[in-house]
Amino acid sequence: MWLVSCLAMMAQGCAGDPAETQEKPAQDAVAAGRLPPLWASELALSELPDLSAAADVVEVELDARAGRVELAPGKSVSAYTYAGSSPGPVIRARVGDTLRVHFTNNLPDPTTVHWHGLEVPASQDGAGHAGTEIAPGARFDYEFKLLHAGTYWYHPHVRSAEQVWRGLYGALIVEDPQDPPLGDELTLLLHDVELTSDGAELGPAAAQGDLGRFFGHEGATLLVNGRIQPTIQVYPGSTLRLRVINTSISRYYRLGVEGHKLVRVAGDSGLLARAEPVDDLLLVPGERSELMLTVKSAPSGELKLRSLPYDRFVCGGCSEAKDLMSIEVVEGVGGSVAAPSGTLSRIEPIDLAGASTRELVLSETMREGATALAINGLVHGHDGLVLQGKVGSTERWTVRNDTDYDHPFHLHGFRFQVLTRDGVAPAVLEWKDTVNVVAHGRVEFAVYFDDRPGMWMFHCHILDHADLGMMGMLHLD
Ligand code: C2O
Ligand code: CU
Ligand code: CU
Repeated sequence: MWLVSCLAMMAQGCAGDPAETQEKPAQDAVAAGRLPPLWASELALSELPDLSAAADVVEVELDARAGRVELAPGKSVSAYTYAGSSPGPVIRARVGDTLRVHFTNNLPDPTTVHWHGLEVPASQDGAGHAGTEIAPGARFDYEFKLLHAGTYWYHPHVRSAEQVWRGLYGALIVEDPQDPPLGDELTLLLHDVELTSDGAELGPAAAQGDLGRFFGHEGATLLVNGRIQPTIQVYPGSTLRLRVINTSISRYYRLGVEGHKLVRVAGDSGLLARAEPVDDLLLVPGERSELMLTVKSAPSGELKLRSLPYDRFVCGGCSEAKDLMSIEVVEGVGGSVAAPSGTLSRIEPIDLAGASTRELVLSETMREGATALAINGLVHGHDGLVLQGKVGSTERWTVRNDTDYDHPFHLHGFRFQVLTRDGVAPAVLEWKDTVNVVAHGRVEFAVYFDDRPGMWMFHCHILDHADLGMMGMLHLD
């Protein structure tokens, strides 16, 4: 498929760094006249040429390196990048494809690439356990099959709070050609950064001191696809399928567009059992959601995608709405798609007959005279928790939050079904890998461990909290 990608890139040439261009689905929408020619140009993400000739293999070269990235016209800062950009290139494939990534670490620090939300063999999970780090200058070839369509992402798992903060994150889109029409697609990676006081460079993650790690660092500058308050252009009536990924190390987003309903159609790993209209949507670090938005004509000609107030019990300033992106409504006729009614995806509830149960308690504790974060009283990096489990078994987990603030709980390698949140069953069945556990709240989920033995991590996806010890391992054999 290399030739095809290469032809598509002809304007920029095939050699060297990946071209930054509107994503393929965005280009298709323009070609069909449903959207203005440059509608998503400010959100352009780079793409990597596919080096494989086989139709069912996507093969790319990827590296991590320091570089300069542009946050707004004329405003560039040094950052960590994948293949020269932050966010990194979009990796796009179809369900059932094999993905091969030849990765080189050109950073001065060890790193890994973790495939968040994907059911990969343990050896390909890039989780950064001792012995799996990729040293500066070293290479690693990742290879796995993409089993489920959905919106995923990749990021490092070594000193991840720092490396993700500095810009290492990218989208991995697994398409399903069988999807019903859900609108014109756009991938949105939500991130935040702190700029130095003169605004010239990225500030260090430690800017808010040690307490900042307990709060979870948030940057004051919000980015969508690496840009400060970008603008898209649409015609009235256009339906967009927004694939939204929260790549922030700590920030929660409660997404809304004034005067508009959103229709949630997919979660962390593929389509929901049925579409769910919402006024707004909370997206916690690590989580993904696919939302249909049908744009009404705006009297002012402009709408805002906002992050509305949400209190995860640590923030000042969380009571204000923040603008993420402008949606400029220009003259023309958009392509409307009605939200599908009825079944969107046939999801069988996990059979809990014979399931064993576990309880995980998230708490604060002390280690070596300092406050730390623990799971079941154990602190990763000191005396971390290691659970033993069996392949081919079903388990029912209860995650209880004993702290005064929220934690987005994430399990590697296996997707799960939430049974209850604070005792209430969710209205719509879906596959998840990251779930918010509110302060003093409780989430129960069901998970089936298929035949992939090895060490699997679970942790809080406020990456500062993971560093403070809120992480554990599940050993499956
Ligand atoms: Cu995005 Cu250990 O995960
Ligand atoms: Cu993960
Ligand atoms: Cu946490």
